[in-house]
Amino acid sequence: MTSTRRTMKLGAFLPAPGHHVAAWRHPRSRPEGGLDFDYYRSLVQTAERGLFDMVFLSDGAGVRTHYKDADELSRQGRMVHFEPLTLLSALAVHTKHIGLTATASTTYNEPFHIARKFASLDHLSHGRAGWNVVTSATDAEARNFNLEQQPDHAARYHRAREFMEVVTGLWDSWEDDAFLYDKASGRFFDPAKLHVLGHRGEHFAVRGPLNVARPPQGHPVIVQAGSSADGQDFAAQWAEVVFTVQQTLDQAQTYRRGLRKQVEDHGRDPDGLKVMPGAFLVLGRTQAEAEDRFAELQDLVDPVLGMSLLTAQLGDVDLSGHDLDGPLPELPETGGSIGKQQVIYQQARSQGLTIRQVYQSVSAGRGHHRLVGTAESIADQLEDWFVNEGADGFNIMPDCLPDGLDQIVTLLVPELQRRGLMRTAYQGSTLRENLGLARPAHRATVVAR
Ligand SMILES: Cc1cc2nc3c(=O)[nH]c(=O)nc-3n(C[C@H](O)[C@H](O)[C@H](O)COP(=O)(O)O)c2cc1C
Repeated sequence: MTSTRRTMKLGAFLPAPGHHVAAWRHPRSRPEGGLDFDYYRSLVQTAERGLFDMVFLSDGAGVRTHYKDADELSRQGRMVHFEPLTLLSALAVHTKHIGLTATASTTYNEPFHIARKFASLDHLSHGRAGWNVVTSATDAEARNFNLEQQPDHAARYHRAREFMEVVTGLWDSWEDDAFLYDKASGRFFDPAKLHVLGHRGEHFAVRGPLNVARPPQGHPVIVQAGSSADGQDFAAQWAEVVFTVQQTLDQAQTYRRGLRKQVEDHGRDPDGLKVMPGAFLVLGRTQAEAEDRFAELQDLVDPVLGMSLLTAQLGDVDLSGHDLDGPLPELPETGGSIGKQQVIYQQARSQGLTIRQVYQSVSAGRGHHRLVGTAESIADQLEDWFVNEGADGFNIMPDCLPDGLDQIVTLLVPELQRRGLMRTAYQGSTLRENLGLARPAHRATVVAR
């Protein structure tokens, strides 16, 4: 493999128990790991051994799960976990190469906080910070921030755009070589290399400068995962990595082609944005072993939880009183998504599935592309998407942790390396270098006065 060859970018998306909705109940999983630093250190060191570009931690400003009551909520497995920026700061000390990406919301933070924290993480990790920019999407979060309901979708993205102007402007408060620390002359920094932002906009009045020097990466890497039209346009303007949810190569190609075009329309180089669809992986040494592993997890889906997820997907259809091991009944018309309801219903009928099998099927991969197989068969599919321009890499979602990640690193990574699709050693030391992204030049522009 030559160093110039295009290789897959890989993220390790690591909620403590794994991605399968029932993973936390599996005998091998560590459901308490969300608040166990040694556990996370070992997970991230495994991902680094597997030469992943970055680890990714999702987050919300509260318990985001939709639930009817405490009984239903008590069956979910991801209620409590570390705040990701503090966790990544600690992990920075125990790793050397892997990128450290966390989610933070533009709706429930102030831009100065975010600019400062991610700049700080970038310095702590010597250039490995990434920020997954979200606008947040639940009223549950709004209720932790003095609101009854979240601001509407357009308003959230409107604020997010100005938020980005302020954050990136603050990161450019100082030129890269502004700090002299010159004891002899008494100059701590060169005053010509200070740029006070002086932002005054619709949502924010932020003077600056930031009280952190320019981040080692210039700007931490910007990640985004919104799929609405507004979300896509936001990604085209700002994102350098996009997490997506396409299910087929055809959909992935269409999405990536469209987004690259939008990136160009914003005057950016389309190669400056890496599209990484989620890949929910269930791996075995044989196909039968992978399928058994998946079946084991499916059998652990709690009926209360499974029925709640299915009911929501069917547009709040009441299925109480029906035998879980009997067929899905004829469905009434509802105000929900008729399209989605019909897809589920037709699939259930054509495959002769019981209600239990239907809820297992809808709850398994949380809407991400699911691959159940051997290292060879999964590598075949990832390669197909990668070489046919459906993806620049993948956000890898292990079914159950920690063993799902161990398997990926010992079985799948060597298979991808054998095919020349993955690096065999880290070449750079920053997240930008891992991803092949340019370091942004310093902009001395003042956004607004
Ligand atoms: C892989 C992936 C990770 C995500 N992580 C988060 C997260 O950590 N926090 C969050 O609030 N939303 C997260 N989201 C949701 C999106 O950022 C976004 O809020 C959602 O897609 C709705 O945005 P839209 O209205 O633009 O589609 C994630 C989505 C994907 C596909």
